[in-house]
Amino acid sequence: MKRAIILVVNGTEHSVEVQPSDLLVDVLRDRLRLTGTKKGCGTGECGACTVLLDGKPVNSCLLLAIRCEGRQITTIEGLGTPDSLHVLQKAFIDNGAVQCGFCAPGMLLSAKALLDENPAPSEMDIRQALAGNICRCTGYVKIVKAVSSAARTMSGAEGGGR
Ligand code: FES
Ligand code: FES
Repeated sequence: MKRAIILVVNGTEHSVEVQPSDLLVDVLRDRLRLTGTKKGCGTGECGACTVLLDGKPVNSCLLLAIRCEGRQITTIEGLGTPDSLHVLQKAFIDNGAVQCGFCAPGMLLSAKALLDENPAPSEMDIRQALAGNICRCTGYVKIVKAVSSAARTMSGAEGGGR
C-alpha cells in the first residue's frame, strides 16, 4: 500500500507517495527526476548510486525510500551546478578524472564525504574512501589526484567550496 512521505533532497522537501518496497535510487531518478544518481549493478557493488544520507555515503540501490523520511539526502544535483561547480567537480575535470562519467556522481559524493571529515587526506585515505566506487575507465590514478588537488584547493581557498 502506498504511503506519502517527505524526502528532503538537497535541502528541499518533496512529498512523494511510495510503496514500502520502493528503493531510494528509483524514487530519486523516476519520481523526482534527479537522474544524476546512476543505477549500475543494483546490488551494492559498484557505488554508482551513491548519495549522502545525513552526510554519509550510502548505496541508494540498497535503501528503502521509506527509511529515508526526514533525513538529509544529498545527490549530485546538490553538489554544484554547471555555472557554479564544486571544487571537487572542477578538480575532476581539470585532472581528466571523468571519462564516460557514469561513476562520477557517486565518486564525487564519496569524495565530498571524505573531505568533510578529513580535509587533508593521504592517498591511502582517498583510496579507502573510494573503495566502494568502481570506475571502469580511468584506472583511478586521475581520480585520486583530483581529490587530492581539491583538498589542497579547499584548504588554501576555503571560499571556493560549498
Ligand atoms: S547501483 Fe547501487 S551499488 Fe551499484
Ligand atoms: S569514468 Fe567511466 S566508469 Fe568511471
